Amino acid sequence: MKKISLFKPFIGAEEVREVAKTLRSGWITLGPKTEEFELAFAIYVGTKHAVGLNSATAALHLALVVSNVKRGDEVITPALTFASTAEAALIVGARPVFADVDPRTLNIDPRSIEKKITKKTKAIIVVHYGGQPCDMDEINKIGKKHGIPIIEDAAHAMGSTYKGKKIGGGENIACFSFQAVKNLTTGDGGMITTNDASVNKRLRSLRWCGINKSTHERVTAGGYRWDYDIDEEGGFKYHMNDINAAIGIVQLKRLDAMNEKRRQIIAVYDAALKNSKTIRPVVQLPGRKTSPHNYCVLLKGYDREALISYLIDKGISTGVHYKPLYHHPRYKKFGSAQDTPITEAVWPEILLLPLHPQLSVGDARRVVTALLSFKA
Ligand SMILES: Cc1ncc(COP(=O)(O)O)c(C=O)c1O
Repeated sequence: MKKISLFKPFIGAEEVREVAKTLRSGWITLGPKTEEFELAFAIYVGTKHAVGLNSATAALHLALVVSNVKRGDEVITPALTFASTAEAALIVGARPVFADVDPRTLNIDPRSIEKKITKKTKAIIVVHYGGQPCDMDEINKIGKKHGIPIIEDAAHAMGSTYKGKKIGGGENIACFSFQAVKNLTTGDGGMITTNDASVNKRLRSLRWCGINKSTHERVTAGGYRWDYDIDEEGGFKYHMNDINAAIGIVQLKRLDAMNEKRRQIIAVYDAALKNSKTIRPVVQLPGRKTSPHNYCVLLKGYDREALISYLIDKGISTGVHYKPLYHHPRYKKFGSAQDTPITEAVWPEILLLPLHPQLSVGDARRVVTALLSFKA
């Protein structure tokens, strides 16, 4: 029986060729390939600056640093997210404050954000869950009204558009992930986008120990020049390297086709589940084009663990994104079921079906047939 995995990266012959070329080129760290990827990425999402990093976790941390979020501040995030979204707040010494989600989309609910704002709120991190853009008009309005920066965790939203504009090309800092199973992968990696030249300059120094001139810049100045300065602020070891960037350049060219492949699988799932009274896919709201990262359904009246085991027996892997962060020991003291009742009510119903570009329509049919054959 062929196993159907929940996620699976697609790496083609061109990625392998480009990595081999980079490995042989003599330049494998931050350098020309990273610059090429940053430029192509900036053009693709429609932003002025894209800064290559080693992860979205690093991007979220730096987004808070350049937003001047400090010890004792509060950062609003959803609880229905991966650890990094809230962990970024803890890294800068701030407190994550969890806002609730819209049960239709599982995206953060702007009305809940507004309720959680206090004098200490210094940033709001929104997550485009599963690739579907959040209600950015409302969220940006709230940010402006209270003078609080909005940071977009776009780890799932590579290629998604909101009102005709790509995520990452708007007015906010956006943080992307190229981790192994994301829509665009470099193995691991991340990108942070901004239209602000001074933020761009700070990010470039912050990503490499506060150093004001990369080695590659010092080489291309005409013979290797050793001298650089470390800015007062210092920094971190967060930059992308050229091996990952070589993969990213090829993956970016493939991205639209890979996202289209994901949509074909979703069309099969949607058609099969459209009349179900007990399995409801996450609602796609108008004004967005989602580059789907996951396919999330909400189950009514199921024993979810029994269903997961039933599907495993049929060679099909499923997932749950996410157990709310306040259910993890690390985040217990920052939130509870009472703070975010919708998150608490909805997460036991979440099930992710397999979604990746290597699935065939036949695989997708096998998944929904198995799902619908389970007696709830
Ligand atoms: C919503 C979200 N934010 C942030 C991250 C962190 O990304 P990375 O692994 O690139 O640090 C992930 C990764 O799974 C994610 O799903």
